[in-house]
Amino acid sequence: MASFPIDVLVEIFLLLSVKPLVRFRCVCKSWNSLLTSPFFIKAYLERSIKLHKFNLLKYNFNKISRVQIHYSPKNELSNLDTSFIKDGEKFELVGSCNGIACLSSFNSKIPHRSKIFLWNPSTGENITLPQPSHHVSNLVGFGFNPLSGHPDDFSIVNMNIYLEQHPNYTSQVEVYSFRRNCWKQLGNIFAPSLTQRLGNQVIFKNFICWCPCVYLDDKFVALLILFDVVQDDFQKIALPDIMPLGIKVINLLEGCLSVIAHNSSTENYEVWIMKEFGVCKSWIKLYTIGVSMRELFSYQPVGFANSGEVFFIDTAYMGLRVKSPSRLVLYNIQSEKFEAFHVKVDYETTQLVTCLESLISLSSTNNVKH
Ligand SMILES: *[C@@H]1O[C@H](CO)[C@@H](O)[C@H](O)[C@H]1NC(C)=O
Ligand SMILES: *[C@@H]1O[C@H](CO)[C@@H](O)[C@H](O)[C@H]1NC(C)=O
Ligand SMILES: *[C@@H]1O[C@H](CO)[C@@H](O)[C@H](O)[C@H]1NC(C)=O
Repeated sequence: MASFPIDVLVEIFLLLSVKPLVRFRCVCKSWNSLLTSPFFIKAYLERSIKLHKFNLLKYNFNKISRVQIHYSPKNELSNLDTSFIKDGEKFELVGSCNGIACLSSFNSKIPHRSKIFLWNPSTGENITLPQPSHHVSNLVGFGFNPLSGHPDDFSIVNMNIYLEQHPNYTSQVEVYSFRRNCWKQLGNIFAPSLTQRLGNQVIFKNFICWCPCVYLDDKFVALLILFDVVQDDFQKIALPDIMPLGIKVINLLEGCLSVIAHNSSTENYEVWIMKEFGVCKSWIKLYTIGVSMRELFSYQPVGFANSGEVFFIDTAYMGLRVKSPSRLVLYNIQSEKFEAFHVKVDYETTQLVTCLESLISLSSTNNVKH
């Protein structure tokens, strides 16, 4: 077997999914060194970017967090094993890049027990990050440096905000480099009066991007907040006045940053994209999703599936009270129809990221670090 020409072997391996390839590492030394080589890991990643994207959905139900995998063609959900996070600990799905997902468990009662995890859902490999100097907060970002040439050049940013000295709030920002395996202190660089809730994030180029609605100069405004993982610094970008304020989720769509915003005068959701990154005037409205508050039902967007469909949470109300549990539904933009999954979720606990199959390893023995 080992005498196969290597280029033929590479072509065959690129057709297979991660699970058999992980087993093939044990076949012989030469297969193992091919399958763990930076060359093959990059080639496999490029193939996955083109072919094999899937959605990871995290939600809580009955106080337990779960992650499910959703493949668009089949439109099925199945459970993933996240038992590396202790039973009963709730967690957040921070983001995903090159097949690696970042999870965090923030416990406000015992903040020092909060943790950050990196996980490859295709191989099951998982690590817990070393503890930062200031405890893991509920504001964590996951980013990637595309300029370094290493597909595992991940950064995790941890933002603690101290509100004691009103109005002189301070922040402590720290950033972890996966390749260097250490935390770096950035100090008081996040203007904390801005916000304590950033909403979901996306990774765009070397930026971690959020789009929170913040209270600034005596009014609410929606802002793009970017963390540049190359410069280790934040940027703020204003949004045009014509955009509705109720930004719900930030996504990537057609290769651009995009948001789903609630228009409070029509009660519809609007999908906007920023055609030219960083250019405020380039935001345009792509389309409107007419899912207004229909009698007893209300839809909250969760995000775009990689097929272009939109996940929503469908919540019933009893008067003003949320009637638990909510349902997960998928909205098809072409047919304007909703399809419900048989999944019960707690209100406002659902997170969605796009992920892909990758052989990137999280163990230090396989990665050459410096
Ligand atoms: C997480 O990593 C541990 C240690 O490497 C491993 O034993 C476990 O199987 C992994 N968890 C999952 C869900 O694959
Ligand atoms: C906040 O900062 C201002 C200006 O530096 C200072 O005068 C004030 O005493 C500070 N307030 C508190 C509560 O620390
Ligand atoms: C909301 O929708 C209405 C009707 O389409 C439109 O006139 C308005 O500009 C939209 N945006 C905001 C911020 O209300």
